[in-house]
Amino acid sequence: MSDLTDKKLGEFHLLRPLGSGGMAEVYLAEQTSLQRYVAVKVMKPSLMAHSGQDMLLRFKQEAMMAAGLNHPNIVQVYTIGEEQGLHYIAQEFVQGSDLATLLRERGKLDLASILHVMRQVAGALKASGRAGIVHRDIKPENILVTKKGEVKVADFGLAQLGENTQGKDGVTMGTPLYMSPEQVGGKELDPRSDIYSFGVTCYQLLSGEPPFRGATAIQIAMQHLKTAPAPLHEKNPQLPRTLCRLVHRMMAKRRSLRYQSAEEVSEDIKTLIAAQKQGRSLDLVRLPRLEELERLAEQERQRHLRNQSSELPDNGEDGGELPFEAPAAAAGTPPEPAARATDRPRRPEPAPAP
Ligand SMILES: Nc1ncnc2c1ncn2[C@@H]1O[C@H](COP(=O)(O)OP(=O)(O)OP(=O)(O)O)[C@@H](O)[C@H]1O
Ligand SMILES: [Mg+2]
Repeated sequence: MSDLTDKKLGEFHLLRPLGSGGMAEVYLAEQTSLQRYVAVKVMKPSLMAHSGQDMLLRFKQEAMMAAGLNHPNIVQVYTIGEEQGLHYIAQEFVQGSDLATLLRERGKLDLASILHVMRQVAGALKASGRAGIVHRDIKPENILVTKKGEVKVADFGLAQLGENTQGKDGVTMGTPLYMSPEQVGGKELDPRSDIYSFGVTCYQLLSGEPPFRGATAIQIAMQHLKTAPAPLHEKNPQLPRTLCRLVHRMMAKRRSLRYQSAEEVSEDIKTLIAAQKQGRSLDLVRLPRLEELERLAEQERQRHLRNQSSELPDNGEDGGELPFEAPAAAAGTPPEPAARATDRPRRPEPAPAP
């Protein structure tokens, strides 16, 4: 797609590119009626052209659903439109960076910042889960962070638009680094699928790399189905074990053995943050829901061991929890330093004039 800088799409004057992905290019724009900055995501024409009216309908439906989500940790969708065959979605401009860029630039984030990001993403997923919306593409690129540390999740539901276009010209699908086993298996998704992808994202934030890598998309996808991620605490022994256990539980291959809702995840993250602020060791914190899920997972593991003659299930729906992550030892690590005070969320400042 050629550079659209200075073009007008409806009442949006495109000022400069902000980034691009597989499906679209994103521009900083000025909404002339309200004289405010917005981000305009222009869908690649090939995406729409190849898929015709169906895709257009879905594009509109998804945008409508996403527009219904109003939450401080979710990028607000303002409107959609079409101009000269270009379909676009105008949304809240988040001045800052996405997590993928931050990780590239800074290497690692400190524990307090990671917990702060986790709490806010869980907040976003709480809102979407309640609305019955599955994001489908939770990954560092879709988690935007303002300079004040405010986190906003972008692109709710939009990933679905790319799914039917795999392999078509002009649409390059991302690697399945963050895909849930059920997504890899082409099953129907529910909000727990976002919890898995969120878990994978947390794993990367805490260890510096995603749990599964491979030369091809298939290799990565197969690991989501079959391979237990290396224990987080082995990747980074400094990490509180309780937090490692929490992240591994989000990444359970079987949906029923994961945290069942973002509310549950959020509660446990908040408990850890509170303990950290008090200077208590996170490893001495009891998380009853986590323990209950771990007990369930252990029971399942035992059941599998007893029925070893029967074939191991091959996907994340009916099984595939084996092999398990090593049971994490609870106590013994020194307390983490107290949390750094985090800034209160603020509205993003307008960008400097281009
Ligand atoms: N609302 C926004 N405000 C500011 N920057 C944004 C906004 N939305 C997206 N961006 C920037 O534009 C980049 C490209 O976004 P886009 O959604 O097109 O691709 P992606 O999320 O990286 O991957 P893909 O959509 O292919 O899965 C993002 O990584 C982000 O840096
Ligand atoms: Mg995106």
